Amino acid sequence: MAPLTAGGISPAFLKLLADERLGGLTVLDVGTGRGRLALALAPRCDRVIGIDRDESALAAARQAAAAAGLRNVEFVAVDAEAGEYLGFAPDVIAAHLCMSTAIAERAGRALARGAPFAFVAFHADQWRETGRRSRFAWSEDEAASILAAAGFSIEHLSVERDVQEFSGVEQALAAAIGLEEKWRADGRWFRYIKFLEEGGRTLTRAHLHVMARKT
Ligand SMILES: C[S@@+](CC[C@H](N)C(=O)[O-])C[C@H]1O[C@@H](n2cnc3c(N)ncnc32)[C@H](O)[C@@H]1O
Repeated sequence: MAPLTAGGISPAFLKLLADERLGGLTVLDVGTGRGRLALALAPRCDRVIGIDRDESALAAARQAAAAAGLRNVEFVAVDAEAGEYLGFAPDVIAAHLCMSTAIAERAGRALARGAPFAFVAFHADQWRETGRRSRFAWSEDEAASILAAAGFSIEHLSVERDVQEFSGVEQALAAAIGLEEKWRADGRWFRYIKFLEEGGRTLTRAHLHVMARKT
């Protein structure tokens, strides 16, 4: 079978899912956004359900599914940290950059023994230069203890890290230009400027890749 690909999603993570037997199974994609992971998985499984609380992202995901002629994927507006997942009857749960203790707990309650839970989460070092962690970020140890408490054993846990190094402040600002609005709103922009003023010249992206199995 051709390699599993999805624009902007790490091939190393996609390989973890591609190595699973997905035929005939229902996959739940938590925090699906515009559905890029759900749409990539749809041809390999029986059914994919993407859930998200962002209605406009879900509308874009539905349009993309229709344009691709995919009939086995549906997108549902849900707060993934409030509702339970049992009603979706998932055999597999995946998530790309939407992870929290509440989500791991719900995955643990919805999956049968031996079922896979595969996700990418922000690592604690993601954008460390801004001095503020995402609420979705975990260290390796945090991931291990949260997953154990939710009833999972870890088969694979790795960190994909990319530390950009800049020769000057202009280059460092240009690298973060797409983040400026979001970072201004939550205070990280000013911390990043301070980091640059103090001589810092890096920007770190770090993601945890996890394949866990329900025990
Ligand atoms: C960084 S985006 C990733 C989107 C998608 N998985 C992808 O990789 O393209 C995080 C997504 O999680 C969704 N999200 C965050 N918290 C959520 C919650 N409590 N319930 C449902 N969706 C949530 C956001 O709306 C957003 O679409």
